[in-house]
Amino acid sequence: MPSDQVKKLILEGREILKYNDFGIDEPTDQQLKLKQPPLVKPNMTDQQIDLPMNFEELKTNPSILDVFNQRQSHRVYTEESMNLLQLSYLLWTTQGIKSIRGNNYATLRTVPSGGARHEFETYLIVKDIEKLEPGVYHYLPMTHQIEFLGRVEPFDETVNEALVGQIWATKANVTFFWSVIPYRSEWRYSFLAHRIILVDIGHVCQNLYIACESIGLGTCALGAFDREISDRLFQLDGVEEFTILASPVGNVSKENDAKEKDFYAFLKTQNT
Ligand SMILES: Cc1cc2nc3c(=O)[nH]c(=O)nc-3n(C[C@H](O)[C@H](O)[C@H](O)COP(=O)(O)O)c2cc1C
Repeated sequence: MPSDQVKKLILEGREILKYNDFGIDEPTDQQLKLKQPPLVKPNMTDQQIDLPMNFEELKTNPSILDVFNQRQSHRVYTEESMNLLQLSYLLWTTQGIKSIRGNNYATLRTVPSGGARHEFETYLIVKDIEKLEPGVYHYLPMTHQIEFLGRVEPFDETVNEALVGQIWATKANVTFFWSVIPYRSEWRYSFLAHRIILVDIGHVCQNLYIACESIGLGTCALGAFDREISDRLFQLDGVEEFTILASPVGNVSKENDAKEKDFYAFLKTQNT
C-alpha cells in the first residue's frame, strides 16, 4: 500500500494529466502582454560548427511503412562511426526550424508543439562522430549549427553515471539530451503548460526513433537518467532550464537484433 504522501503525489500527478483549469480565470503572462521569452537559447560560445544539409545523399528507407514497422528501441550498438550528415539529419528531424511565424512570435519546426512554443533545447554527448571532437555540444536550431561546450572526462564513467548505470548506452556514438525551458510555454499557458510539455517531448523523441530507423541507426528513449548530473554537464540551472529526456543513438545491425531480444528479456526480468 502506498503511503499517504505517495497517494497525494499520485493524485497531484493525475491532475496535471487531466488539463484541469481548477476554475481559475487569471490572465496568463501573454494576456498581460509581458515580454515573450526568446524563441531559442542564445549561443553559449563564440564558435559554431555548420551542419551539412545535403540529406538527399543519405540512403533513407523509401518505405515509411517499413520504417514504422521496424521501429523499436535499440540498446545494442555496433560501434561503427557515424558522420556529421547523419547527426545533422537527426537534429533537423527532431528540432529543425522550417520557418518563423509573425514578428518572431513562433518557430515552425519538423515536430508539432502546443501553441508552437517549442520549449526544448538539444544537447549532445558525442563519443564518435567523424570530424567532431568527443564531448558536449549544444544545438542552435536558428542557424542549424552546433557549438562545443567542453570535454567529458572520464567519458564512459560520466555518461554511465548520468544514465544511472545503463552502461550499454556508453557504446552509443552520441546521446541526445533534451532540456526544457518551461517559461516558453508557461508564458502562454501558465499552470496548464506542463501537460503540454510532456506531450511535446514525446513528439521530439518519436521523430528521433523514426529518423534513426530510416537511415539504419537505432535509439532508445531514456526516462531513467540523473537529472542533476545531466544539468551540470550542460550548464543548466535546474529551475529555469533542466533536462527532461535522453536518447542514445548508434549503428545497429540485423545480427544485433537477436541480442536485442535477449536484452529485452533480461530487462523484463529487471522490471524495466
Ligand atoms: C518515456 C520513455 C522512457 C523510457 N525509458 C527507458 C529507460 O530508461 N531505459 C530503457 O532501457 N528503456 C526505456 N524506454 C524504452 C521502453 O522500454 C520501450 O519503448 C518499450 O519497452 C517498448 O519497446 P519498443 O520501443 O522496442 O517498442 C523508455 C521509453 C519511453 C517512451
